[in-house]
Amino acid sequence: MMRTHHCGELTAENIGQQVTLAGWVNRRRQHGEHLAFLDIRDYTGLTQCVVDNTVDARSEYVITVTGTVTARVEGTVNRDLPTGEIELQDCIIEVLSEAEPPPFPIDERADKVDEMVRLKYRYLDLRRERMQRNLRLRSKINAAIRSAMANQDFIEVETPMLMPSTPEGAREFLVPSRQRPGNFYALPQSPQLYKQLLMVGGLDRYYQIARCLRDEDLRADRQYEFMQLDLEMSFVEVDDVLSAAEVGVLDAAEVATGVRPTEVPRITWHEAMERFGTDKPDIRFGMELVELTEVFAQTGFKAFSSAGSIKGIKVDGGASQYGRNKLDGLTDEAKAMGAKGLVWLKVIVPEAAEGEQGSDGVASGLAFQSPVAKFISADETASILSTMDATEGDLILIVADEWTTTCEVLGELRNRIGRPPVHEGPYKYLWVVDFPLFVGVDAATGRPKPGHHAFCHPHPDDLDKLESDPMSVRAWAYDLVLNGWELGSGSIRIHDPLLQRRVFALLGIDDEEADRRFGFFLDPFKFGAPPHGGFAYGIDRLSAILAGEENIREIIAFPKPSSGVDPMTGSPGEVDDGQLEELGLRVLPPAE
Ligand code: AMO
Ligand code: AMP
Repeated sequence: MMRTHHCGELTAENIGQQVTLAGWVNRRRQHGEHLAFLDIRDYTGLTQCVVDNTVDARSEYVITVTGTVTARVEGTVNRDLPTGEIELQDCIIEVLSEAEPPPFPIDERADKVDEMVRLKYRYLDLRRERMQRNLRLRSKINAAIRSAMANQDFIEVETPMLMPSTPEGAREFLVPSRQRPGNFYALPQSPQLYKQLLMVGGLDRYYQIARCLRDEDLRADRQYEFMQLDLEMSFVEVDDVLSAAEVGVLDAAEVATGVRPTEVPRITWHEAMERFGTDKPDIRFGMELVELTEVFAQTGFKAFSSAGSIKGIKVDGGASQYGRNKLDGLTDEAKAMGAKGLVWLKVIVPEAAEGEQGSDGVASGLAFQSPVAKFISADETASILSTMDATEGDLILIVADEWTTTCEVLGELRNRIGRPPVHEGPYKYLWVVDFPLFVGVDAATGRPKPGHHAFCHPHPDDLDKLESDPMSVRAWAYDLVLNGWELGSGSIRIHDPLLQRRVFALLGIDDEEADRRFGFFLDPFKFGAPPHGGFAYGIDRLSAILAGEENIREIIAFPKPSSGVDPMTGSPGEVDDGQLEELGLRVLPPAE
């Protein structure tokens, strides 16, 4: 090795030793007339070196320093730095690589630099402590997951990157075939089909740290390319999959944070929607949705009288924090989310009623301040206050609509108002089980749309309703949620070809089409398929949250910005005509 020690490890115990360090010049400061301080940096930290002023080594030069570990003079000790008690003296510097001045400082100041600049010079950004810490954490998480899987007798199998186009949900990336011009492979959205075939193949327990590709709009929690811990198991029921999948996540959490989460609660999808208005609840804070439909059963308030579902959330002490402008803003947000409106009620003690029974006859002496207060009767007021456990100074927000809209709008408002930033913790994991088999109706076909994918096993207790009331059928499908992020999804799969055809029929796919489109996948199930199920969680998302980052780009070495255009390599780019020719492709002029 070119070094005897790392830059972050020397302490007072090394005083007197001659050492050699290798790394980058972090910073150079003049020290009197003849000397300079030069900090040398590697991934472990910094060491201060006292060098002759004539040494030509500037920021980001790659050097080795050989010198003597010396105690710093009293008063110059830096307690914030692990190596702050010592410095290297009598240094001999060897320059291994010169460096142009970097486009941004290689330290925490770069956090404020435009992200496109960070990504253009990602190799410089990666030298920073934050990125080093994040990628090293991610590597530990991968290792923990791998051993958790191996310890449970899962075997690692790689599956193809070039595969047929399949109906998994997201838009696919296509790869033209040179040998069969006009034909295309698709890149895998996930190894879903192959892992099920591995079960037909008798592998029993499969896992893979799998690269998945989806041509989706990019966001804080979405990349074109991402990594899943993907698993599949034979002869199992829901509980078996959840237990096995949980081990890797909890082991990863433990190596990342030092704390092993205690058991992960499970709630049904219906309960998640009822209480939190979302299928990925952040359970770090309260503000749960409160059912008010009954309270308004006899109401004279028009906006509420014909609604299928009325619910509210309470913002503790919110009355004084939300002035008219903010409340109008919330109302507009609610409407943008699909609500017809938003009722807000501030809980007050009316002036006249102080010390006596409320003027509107409410025993608590509390009343509402709201543009719609006059439409809310004394009984309703009392009932809202007690149902929502509201006191003076609270703000109540109410939505009336069909059930899904009511839940979703309030769930989103709850998050916007109450959700703490990811890095504030604590970490709260949650299983959401019994998702609906179908969600919504495809506008084009009028058919139900699969909630997850077309291969999820319907809940056996609901099988008799499959044709008569498909929208009420639950699936043996589940998600893992962490602090309001969907970490992973999975299901028990259909292994019976007849049941698969029933589900396809509901989706409007007849036998002929099923054979044509997924014959390669359905045929194997005629040869004896074991009952099986699986799960996949996003390693980018898990690592980001465990690193306290709000954006998965911060834990990916070379991510794409939301435009999808990589500022470092310039991809995607044009290719020359010869390449297109060979593939039998011609590029059309851009559409008008
Ligand atoms: P699903 O499509 O829900 O399930 O994906 C599983 C998990 O993968 C992560 N993920 C993503 N991460 C980053 N960028 C993306 N574009 C992205 N898309 C998904 C999420 C998500 O929860 N084959 C099924 C799993 C199964 O049924 O076994 C599947 O892929 O964390
Ligand atoms: P309107 O009767 O439409 O003028 O609405 C009166 C108030 O009730 C306004 O503050 C609306 O935002 C609110 N509102 C109307 N419809 C609903 C609804 N479905 N749910 C909640 N609030 C509503």
